Amino acid sequence: MNGMDPQTLTELLDVSVLDRLDRIEDLPADELARSSALRKEGYSAEVTAGLLTQAQLRKDAVKKLGPFAEDMLFTRDGLAQATRLPVAAHHARRLLGEGKDTGGDEGADGSADAADSTPTIADLGCGIGADSFAFAGMGAQVTAVDADEVTAAIASFNLRHLANASVEHARAEDIDTSAFDALWFDPARRTVGKGSKSGSTARIFDPEDFSPSLSWVIDKALAAKAAGVKLGPALDHSLIPDEAEAQWVSHLGEVVEVCLYFGEARQRPGRSALVMGERTLLVHEDDLPADDEDGVGELGQYLLEPDGAIVRAGLVTALCGPLQARRVHPKIAYLTTDAEPSGPAAAGVTTYEVADVLPAKIPSLRKALISRGIGSVVIKKRGADIVPDQVRRQLKLPAGDKATLVFTRLGDRHVVLLTQPC
Ligand SMILES: C[S@@+](CC[C@H](N)C(=O)[O-])C[C@H]1O[C@@H](n2cnc3c(N)ncnc32)[C@H](O)[C@@H]1O
Repeated sequence: MNGMDPQTLTELLDVSVLDRLDRIEDLPADELARSSALRKEGYSAEVTAGLLTQAQLRKDAVKKLGPFAEDMLFTRDGLAQATRLPVAAHHARRLLGEGKDTGGDEGADGSADAADSTPTIADLGCGIGADSFAFAGMGAQVTAVDADEVTAAIASFNLRHLANASVEHARAEDIDTSAFDALWFDPARRTVGKGSKSGSTARIFDPEDFSPSLSWVIDKALAAKAAGVKLGPALDHSLIPDEAEAQWVSHLGEVVEVCLYFGEARQRPGRSALVMGERTLLVHEDDLPADDEDGVGELGQYLLEPDGAIVRAGLVTALCGPLQARRVHPKIAYLTTDAEPSGPAAAGVTTYEVADVLPAKIPSLRKALISRGIGSVVIKKRGADIVPDQVRRQLKLPAGDKATLVFTRLGDRHVVLLTQPC
């Protein structure tokens, strides 16, 4: 499942091999040349392959974990499933209590008792340790647990500089969770695909097949003082327990998760969306308009594409008030305004200026685009049954200006909005 056997990991963990990994950029960048240089230095074929893989995974991991990645080890699956560091830091803040001084030197009664006030967190299914890294980095005493031997060993390596983190190779189900202040769950939601020879993984759709299963995780989370459960953003809303706060998160424009928070980690019951990027925006179910109106109105000069976390959380209309926006259609997640959005809520949308409304039929659309000198198009769609690449091929546009085409509906009409990103 993790793509590395324990023997290869043991060999990689040798001090001289790790040292070679840290200095691998001294070698030519070309993989073949690098490989033969390592073989000439006396490394076995297995260790050479392991070094090349780790060097590549470290590079890939910088996007998620920043410069810390350059001092870590990975499995391919472990990196794919690892939480991005800014998001993991957000999890840590939630489990530790927002704004609470985790390294504090005063007890609740004002007495000085630093040791007693250090919160303990169990990370039950820690993977390569990205969430644990943030929990421990922010002052918690962390017990990280993983059922996979190689993954647990890698987490141990990755957390080695944090004296307040330890790793256990065990099943979450076998851990006594009652002693911890907070529990963190990120159940495995992928499995090796049927018949896969490459070890490629496939998504698990039934939450009872997650590992640990969702019902076990939720039972434990409900019983905990504080708990967080990271799940895929496509989670069926009906699976969210009434006791939980469900928060969808996007980071730099990509929806990365929905987290269920319980007990003291829950700040506000209900659904919320957190947009993390250059600017941060939090939208909550309580921000939805009180009336039952669908908020649909005339297309204005601007088309707004709400962030995916807001769409997944079902909170698009919560933006209508702050952005003075209306919907283009009751079932389609585009908004429209007469003025370019500004203010904090603008962080929740990507804005396009609408130049024209064009017909959706390909021959008429092609004619309309050519007459306007458009030759290169980015195609977006909502509420339209098209395949963008196929449409681009059918349009066969001669060279010309760039535009964004939005295939959507205005009332009963299928239209194409000719737009430019703002
Ligand atoms: C989605 S990954 C966790 C990623 C981690 N949060 C991170 O940011 O690096 C899930 C992990 O759970 C482990 N796992 C699966 N079933 C488990 C179980 N029953 N008990 C403990 N760990 C388990 C898998 O080996 C995998 O490493």
